[in-house]
Amino acid sequence: MKITLIGYMGSGKTTVGKMLSQKLNLNFYDLDALLVEENKNDSILNLFKKKGELFFRNREHSLLKTILKQKNKYVLSVGGGTPCFYNNIYLLNKYSNTFYLKTDSYTLFKRLFLEKDTRPLISHLSKNELFIFIIKHLSKRSYFYEKSLEKINVYGKSKYDIVQEIVKSVS
Ligand code: S3P
Repeated sequence: MKITLIGYMGSGKTTVGKMLSQKLNLNFYDLDALLVEENKNDSILNLFKKKGELFFRNREHSLLKTILKQKNKYVLSVGGGTPCFYNNIYLLNKYSNTFYLKTDSYTLFKRLFLEKDTRPLISHLSKNELFIFIIKHLSKRSYFYEKSLEKINVYGKSKYDIVQEIVKSVS
């Protein structure tokens, strides 16, 4: 079984992915963490600053193809933008069972306001700008997220319950 978690920044992909991989006894990959590793442990924020978003998207696409095509089973968490560039959402759906962790803009805003400094797309935004940005950005990105094979409404649910829901749907 190959499972990929997709969704907006702050939707819980990494935490849920780790828990899910433990529960299913599968390898866990986090695409952002692999990109950081590839870049000699320099942060995603610095990667964007030094080499630009286009470089990041190219590396992201290339690494994604390598992971998706491997034979072993896994749980994979990708970045919030991964499904929205090149033909990544189609690749994700072709090679894995994609789950969209779906929640509302206000929940994402509350989480991302506390964590925005590590994220290049939002680190420079004020509180008010951040909320408006998330509403607009999420509505554009939803077009890609909604193409996932499965959708999990994560609003108000604990990480444990989300994991259980995914386990139930794959077993
Ligand atoms: C991005 C999301 C980030 C990371 C990068 C770009 C995006 O991952 O890949 O900062 O375009 O939404 P998370 O979704 O894990 O924050």
